[in-house]
Order: sequence, then structure tokens, then C-alpha cells
Amino acid sequence: MTTDRGEMTTRKRRHIDVCLDGDVAYRGVTTGLERCRLPYNALTQTNLDDIDLSTEFLGAPLRAPVLVGAMTGGAELSGTINRNLAAAAQRLGIGMMLGSQRVMLDSVLGERAAASFTVRDVAPDVLLFGNIGLAQLTKDMVPDIVRALDRVGANALAVHTNPLQEAMQRDGDTDFAGSLDRLHDLSDLLGYPVLLKEVGHGIGGTAVADLLRLSGAPPVAAIDVAGAGGTSWSRVEQLVRYGELRYPDLADWGIPTAQAIREVRAALPDIPLVASGGIRTGMDAAKSLVLGADVVAVARPLLPAAIESADAATAWLQRFVDELRVCLHGCGAPDLRALRSVGLTDA
Ligand SMILES: Cc1cc2nc3c(=O)[nH]c(=O)nc-3n(C[C@H](O)[C@H](O)[C@H](O)COP(=O)(O)O)c2cc1C
Repeated sequence: MTTDRGEMTTRKRRHIDVCLDGDVAYRGVTTGLERCRLPYNALTQTNLDDIDLSTEFLGAPLRAPVLVGAMTGGAELSGTINRNLAAAAQRLGIGMMLGSQRVMLDSVLGERAAASFTVRDVAPDVLLFGNIGLAQLTKDMVPDIVRALDRVGANALAVHTNPLQEAMQRDGDTDFAGSLDRLHDLSDLLGYPVLLKEVGHGIGGTAVADLLRLSGAPPVAAIDVAGAGGTSWSRVEQLVRYGELRYPDLADWGIPTAQAIREVRAALPDIPLVASGGIRTGMDAAKSLVLGADVVAVARPLLPAAIESADAATAWLQRFVDELRVCLHGCGAPDLRALRSVGLTDA
């Protein structure tokens, strides 16, 4: 058990190091957003300064349709990362997902680890998601999960489902049998809205059909497609475990983000939907919103800035939001509602 605990903390740190220095982006798969073009309108009637990016997600107001993606927690550096990201999110009026709080559920490590998830003092108003793996969502764990969410002052819970990542991980949780039933049975008991996410291999039409099979209605309040084309967690885990890509085909496996957005939106026209996985620019964000997402999330590109300072994280995100604003201006959309009706053309 002690070894498991040591490994959990070391692995978190290795994830950060490999994400900073390793070759962890998809090689043969792209998001598909590069194949869509946002129509440019030389006769736009908008004033750039008046473009309105504000929106609501799960009932919370956002000044721009952007979330900081789920990244980390537990390791010492994680506290710095989370606090810098949270301060940036507060300044910009956007939302944030914490990384997996699994370590907070540990009876020995939990108390110390909690500090690395503590951000409410620097981000009192941010829409904040806690985070847990679907493997940890068991009936026995519900009270502990709720305590962990209460403790960090979360507004909602992101549950990540990551069978490919776990299959690549040493001693990963590879038994997903019954996980869908548990999601159905337990998400109501949590008392927090649940957002279901992947970690970069994509939630698409097949997963949504499975999600609807039991009762015809999704057992979650929101979905983040976390599609392929950005960070491949199959790559990250292979590099952490073997120091090389032992299974190159599995490293590049997933549902491209653009396809995932289309498929989920077609099956669930009204569900609050996050586009993530390879969202790198304001233009990527604009295209994702036209395809049907309500907000976008960015993870790995924020890591270096988040380690540096709250100012650096703010600057990265400000540039992203500024680019999105120009995208609306350049296609003649004064606000997000108008953006959604512009349509995309093939590039
Ligand atoms: C360093 C790092 C740690 C991550 N840890 C988590 C996590 O604990 N829980 C989770 O749901 N996703 C985690 N992710 C996955 C991201 O939330 C995201 O789904 C994935 O990286 C794809 O987005 P990207 O291409 O913008 O990086 C992590 C990502 C990074 C870069």
C-alpha cells in the first residue's frame, strides 16, 4: 500500500515532466478542425470592442466560453500549477477543472494533498469542477468524493472515463465492467452536477448511445468530448512506463475532436457540451463553437505558463480569448449566438 501511494505521487510528477518535455501530441490524427474554415466576412458590421463573448455554463456566468482543462493535483508542483491557473481564471472570468482528486480520497495522503487543490482563496467566483476517475466512482466512495468536493468548494464534478489510458498504465484500473451502471446509479447521489469527460481519446456517438441505453436520458449534466488531435494520454503513459512507444498504433487512437463534437451534438441537441482535445487557438475555439460546443477547454499548452506564474497563465489565456474575439468580428458575429449560425465551409 505504501508503494502504491509513493507510486501515485511519483506518477503525477512524471506526467507533468513528460507533458512538458515528451513527444506526447498525436502524430497521425488531427482534431479535424483544420479541415473546417470559418467564413470571413469583409463587410462585417461589428465593432471589435463590442463583441460579446459572455455565456453561461451549468448555470454559471462566464465572461468567455473557455475552461482551463483538468490537469493536476497531489504533487507539490501541482499546487503552484492549480493556484496560478485558478488566479488566471478568476481574472478572466472563465471556468476551471481541477485534476484528479483521487489522492484526496487516500486516508494517509489525502490531508496533505488537499492543499494542492485549494484555490478558492484566489478564485472565489470561478466555475470550478472537481475531478475523479470513473473507476473511483463506487457506492462506497460517494461520501468521500462528496467530502473532497465540499473541501475544495467545487461547483460540479468532472468524471473522467479513460480505458485506453488505464490500459497503458502500469497497474492501471482496467476493469470498466459495470462502470456505466455505476454512473447511472451514483451520479444523482453526489448532489453535484456531473460532467463526463475523456482525457484525449474522445467521447463520440457510440459512447453516447451506450449512455442513453439504460433510461433514454443521459445520467450526466454535461459532456466534455476530450477528443483526439491534441495530447495523447496513451502516448504519455507509454513514455512514462516504457520510456518509448511500445504500441505506436494505440498511441494514435481516438475520435478526432471535430467528429466527436458533431456526433455528441447530433445525439444530444441540448446537453451542455465542452469541446477539448487539441484546442490550441481562438480559431480552434470558434470552429468548435460553430460545430455545436457551448464552451472549450485547454489543458497541456497551459502547463509551462502555469508553472511560471499567474501572470503568464493569464497572458496565455488572454491571447486565446482575444483571438476568439477577432474570429467573431471577422465573420460578422456580434455574440456567440450569432457565431453559431454562421456555418463552416470545407478547407
Ligand atoms: C499534465 C496533465 C494532467 C492531466 N490530468 C488529468 C486529470 O487528472 N484528470 C482528467 O480528467 N484529465 C486530465 N488531463 C487530461 C486533460 O484534461 C485533457 O483532456 C487532455 O490533455 C486533452 O487536452 P489537451 O489536448 O488540451 O491537452 C491531464 C492533462 C495534462 C496535460
